[in-house]
Amino acid sequence: MAHKTWDAIVIGGGAAGLFCAGVASQLGKRVLVLDHADVLGEKIRISGGGRCNFTNIHSNPSHFLSLNPHFVKSALARYPSSEFIKLVQSYRIAHHEKHQGQLFCDDSAKQIIEMLFSECAKGNVKIRYPETIQTIEKEADEWIVKTNVGIERTKSVVMATGGLPVPAIGATAYSLDIAKQFGLQVVEPRPALVPLSFTSGEFENLIELAGLSLPVRIASGSKGSRYGACRFNEDLLLTHKGLSGPAVLQASSYWTEGEQIHIDWLGAVEANGQFDCDDLFNDEDNRLKLTENILASVMPMRLAKAFAEQKNLLGRKWAEVSKKDRQTLKELISNWSVKPAGTLGWKKAEVMLGGVDTKALDSQTMMARNHPGLYFIGECVDVTGHLGGHNFQWAWASGFACAHSL
Ligand code: FDA
Repeated sequence: MAHKTWDAIVIGGGAAGLFCAGVASQLGKRVLVLDHADVLGEKIRISGGGRCNFTNIHSNPSHFLSLNPHFVKSALARYPSSEFIKLVQSYRIAHHEKHQGQLFCDDSAKQIIEMLFSECAKGNVKIRYPETIQTIEKEADEWIVKTNVGIERTKSVVMATGGLPVPAIGATAYSLDIAKQFGLQVVEPRPALVPLSFTSGEFENLIELAGLSLPVRIASGSKGSRYGACRFNEDLLLTHKGLSGPAVLQASSYWTEGEQIHIDWLGAVEANGQFDCDDLFNDEDNRLKLTENILASVMPMRLAKAFAEQKNLLGRKWAEVSKKDRQTLKELISNWSVKPAGTLGWKKAEVMLGGVDTKALDSQTMMARNHPGLYFIGECVDVTGHLGGHNFQWAWASGFACAHSL
C-alpha cells in the first residue's frame, strides 16, 4: 500500500505538541502525533500539584529567560493567555486565580489533557503511542520519519519532546538531538525552577527548621550571568536538603554554579509596607526585650532564635547588644548571602533552561530558518518561563504560531 503523506508529524504529545496538532488539524491539516510514552500528558497531569497552573493572566515577555529575550514577543502577542482562557472557558473547566495571575483548575489537571484531546479529535488528528521514533531524515521535499512500526512521510516535522526534567516520566533530549543532527546550535540545558542544596556551615542551624515557610525577598544572578539578575518577593521553604519554595525556584533559574544568592528575610514583609527594618533595629522601646523576641515580632520565633544564636545573641537583652553586633545581625537578616552547593537536578526541576538556540528559528513560525518544514516548539526551545503558568503559556503560544505556518 502506498504511504500517505501527512501535512505534519508532531513528535511528542505533551502540552505544546497536542495543542499545536489540534489547532493545525482544525485549519485543515492532516496531522499525526507520535509519542514514545505509555500515557500522554503526564507533565500536565502532575503540574500545579495536580491542578495545572495552565496559564498566567499577566504573562508577557518579561516572564521568560532566553539568550534572545525578544524571541517570545511575536508568539505571545499572537496567542496571549486571554486566548487560552477563552478556550478553557468554552470547555466549562472551572478555574481560579491563586496568586499573581496564576490560573489553576478547580478540580483536576486531567481536564486540560481531556480538552487537548478533544481539540485534536475535532480535527481528526491521528495519535499513536507508545511508538519509538528511530530516525528523521529529509528526502527531496519530504520528511521521512522511521519508527518501530514503520515509515511515515510528511511535509513538516514538529519537534515537541519537551525538556529534561523528570526523566522517570519519559523526558528525553530527542528534540535537541534532532536540532544537532541538522546543524542547529543548542544552548546547554540546565535544570531550572529547582530547589537548591547547601553544604555551607551557615546553613547548619537552619536544617532543624525544615518545613518552615515565610515570605522573603531573594536576589540571584548578576549582570554578567547568562540570563542577568533577578529579584523576587515570594515564599521560601526550608527543607532538609536546602531551600525551596517559589522564591528559591524562581531564583534558581538565574543562578549559576559558584555564585551566591542573596536573601532579605524581611524584605517581602517590608515591601508590603508592614514595617521598616531600620525602625526595628533602632527602636529604643526594645531596650529591655530579648534579641530573639524583637526578631520574632516580624518572623517565626524558631527562625528568630536561629539567627540570634548564629550571632551569639540568644537570650541577650537589646540594651546589652553593641552597635556593631546589631549591625552584623541586621546584615545577616537583610542580606544573607550564601553559595548554594548545587541544585536538586533533573529529578526535581520543573523546567529546562537552554535548548534549541532561537537564533536558528523564525520567531513568527518556530521553523528552523535553514530547514524548511522542521519546527521546534515548547520547552525544547531556549525559552524558559518564570514559575506561575508561564511555561504552559509558552507551550500554547509557540504551538499556535507553528500550527498556523504548517
Ligand atoms: P511536555 O513535557 O509536556 O511533552 C513532551 C512529550 O514528548 C511527552 O509526551 C513525552 O513523552 C514526549 N517525548 C519525549 N521524548 C520523546 C521521544 N524521544 N520520542 C517521542 N516522544 C517523546 N508549567 C506551568 O506553566 N505551570 C505548572 O503548573 C507547571 N507545573 C509543573 C510541575 C512539574 C512537576 C513539572 C515537571 C513541570 C511543570 N511545569 C509547569 C512545566 C510544564 O509541564 C512544561 O513546561 C510543559 O509541559 C512543556 O510542554 P512541552 O509540550 O514542551 O513538553
